[in-house]
Amino acid sequence: MGVTLPTPGTVLKALDAIPDPGGAPADWAGTPILIVRSGSTVRAYVNVCPHQGRPLCLPSGRALVSEGRFIVCPFHGASFELETGACVGGPAGKSVLTPAPVRVENGQVIAA
Ligand code: FES
Repeated sequence: MGVTLPTPGTVLKALDAIPDPGGAPADWAGTPILIVRSGSTVRAYVNVCPHQGRPLCLPSGRALVSEGRFIVCPFHGASFELETGACVGGPAGKSVLTPAPVRVENGQVIAA
């Protein structure tokens, strides 16, 4: 599908730099990746909304996480499950965000 994800082991961001619940872009120069968290649940997705291809975060990098469970696209309000990336409401239909596997180790979010 042409998306290059970070090599496993790449450090993407300090966990405590990500609002909880909330999200922030990965510190990685390749394919834009948004890391989201709610408590101990941490996920990352390619930072592109399937609706119109815009980022899933605001220009400031802040991501909207509703009820600790849903990533809400700031442009037209499509909602995606934080844990699965599945669209559950709004204009993005039955799309699913492209996952970027991550793990947390020593307070860092690392590509898995
Ligand atoms: S670009 Fe995300 S809902 Fe439209």
